[in-house]
Amino acid sequence: MSVGTVTIAHLSDLHFGGFADLNQIEALEEFLPTLNTTAIVVSGDLSQRARHGEFQAAHVFLYRMKMKTPTLVVPGNHDIEWWKSPLGLLGEKQKYAKYLRYYPELRPVLEVPGAILAGAVSSYGVAFGSLTWNIRDVAVKGHLPRSETRRVQKIFEGAPPGLARVMVVHHNVLAGGTGRMGLVRWRSAHKRLLATGADVILCGHDHYEGAGQIEGGVAVSTSGTHSYRQRGGRPSVFNLVTIDEQSVHIQHYRWVSEQRHFIPSDKVSFGRKGAPKVAVSVAGGDQGL
Ligand SMILES: [Fe+2]
Ligand SMILES: [Fe+2]
Repeated sequence: MSVGTVTIAHLSDLHFGGFADLNQIEALEEFLPTLNTTAIVVSGDLSQRARHGEFQAAHVFLYRMKMKTPTLVVPGNHDIEWWKSPLGLLGEKQKYAKYLRYYPELRPVLEVPGAILAGAVSSYGVAFGSLTWNIRDVAVKGHLPRSETRRVQKIFEGAPPGLARVMVVHHNVLAGGTGRMGLVRWRSAHKRLLATGADVILCGHDHYEGAGQIEGGVAVSTSGTHSYRQRGGRPSVFNLVTIDEQSVHIQHYRWVSEQRHFIPSDKVSFGRKGAPKVAVSVAGGDQGL
């Protein structure tokens, strides 16, 4: 592994509560520290119903991970009490109050050797920005406001040039295995995500692992779930994301329930776009640097 290589264990959708698979949680507790990753990310849906006990169980799990490895989490649609302020009519604070009791930041930023990670909120529950004409989408779909992508863009612009840029959101930004897009108005979101300068976006929500790219520009790691709510009875998967000077590698780790452990599965690699080229005006014309 070269000096500049960053590795991130990317988990999602733990769903502590009735559906969490404790065999997997126990296996993760043992296995993740052995991977010696630079960071551990959980891209939302820590809980099933945003209950205290669910948040506390997730907190204990993350606390153990954090003893050895820096961690970052963002809220999923299951982690917010949107019914306390439907459509945001009673303000935004109520929805996130319980989550914030256990995880002090909605929009965490984490700098680790070789990378800066920035969390963005895509989970707003029943909110004007997340509404569609499909009744099944209510409180499920997410959206990425312009203010969120702009904020992350500024963080990345201000970070030292040598650091890899990692953005974390809950809702899947690519349609992936289920064919369902997690975000409403995803075309606009894609343009703005590309403009953030991220090298890789980590997301979940789909309960179906994926590795892809937005318009050949930014890699996307979609992690699965460690609950019993997998799509189509597929085995659970988490992703090991490795970023080196040239590439982003997304290695899936698949759960083998009979043996109670995770094994390496498919690996997909994408070229890094790198920092935006700066054009300067010089005598004789413009030259890219
Ligand atoms: Fe989920
Ligand atoms: Fe979700």
